[in-house]
Amino acid sequence: MLFLQNMEDITDKKYSRVTTKSLQEMKRNGQKISMLTAYDYSFGGLVDKAGIDIILVGDSASNVMAGHETTLPVTLDQMIYHASSVVRAAKRALVVVDLPFGTYQSDSKEALRSAIRIMKESGAHAVKVEGGEQVKDSIERITQAGIPVMGHLGLTPQSIYKFGSYTVRAREENEAKQLLNEVKLIEKIGCFGIVLEKIPALVAKKATDSIKIPTIGIGAGANVDGQVLVLHDMLGMNKEFSPRFLRRYCDLDKIIHEAISQYGKDVKSKNFPNENEQY
Ligand code: KIV
Repeated sequence: MLFLQNMEDITDKKYSRVTTKSLQEMKRNGQKISMLTAYDYSFGGLVDKAGIDIILVGDSASNVMAGHETTLPVTLDQMIYHASSVVRAAKRALVVVDLPFGTYQSDSKEALRSAIRIMKESGAHAVKVEGGEQVKDSIERITQAGIPVMGHLGLTPQSIYKFGSYTVRAREENEAKQLLNEVKLIEKIGCFGIVLEKIPALVAKKATDSIKIPTIGIGAGANVDGQVLVLHDMLGMNKEFSPRFLRRYCDLDKIIHEAISQYGKDVKSKNFPNENEQY
């Protein structure tokens, strides 16, 4: 009964779920796609209710949620935990989950097993993997099993120790050429979309014009099919991180700090609770 109720909610016009197919239509119609990260039920619900099209349960959870320096330490079990919390909140958005570092690079069978665990145990709708040519077999095997895959090229944070820095990628002609080839490869092997991170706007435009699947940019300029940001960065909860591409939509750090400090003061001064706040 509850299952039917949920199905009705989802198929109801109010909640009609964003799908990989509707994203392709949005590209065809020139409608921009919005995407944000979320890692838990509370923020997942806020992002979904605001009408964002895709919620990415990014492996940036490693930095944002766990305080690690890189995205490498987050595990498959931890990603499944974050993803299942977000899935419970998301009534309309498509939920995409990052396959964490070390769960898809060594062989395509392991990649498929990791993707299946995410889909089965979290209820998410798609997975995302970083890289092109070097993870081609993994992407093919996952898509052939019927699991939608989103690609990710340009700055790929899981390869930070190979590149040594988080600087703009594909600035040199050779690297730009390789990226443009890999964008086409990603489309050919069945991905439904692709994140382009921190590359020159002109290269991102060329990539976007060369394929039918949507490109979602982060630090890739305006001529892509959609935009993604890390939620905590755009809410102003991570002041140390200030790349040029980041627009802060509020100063949540300050708002939360003031609220918590006020609560602390009220407790100390015996101002909380008052008569109306007790039984
Ligand atoms: O993990 C993440 O948050 C991401 C975005 C930066 C695209 O991959």
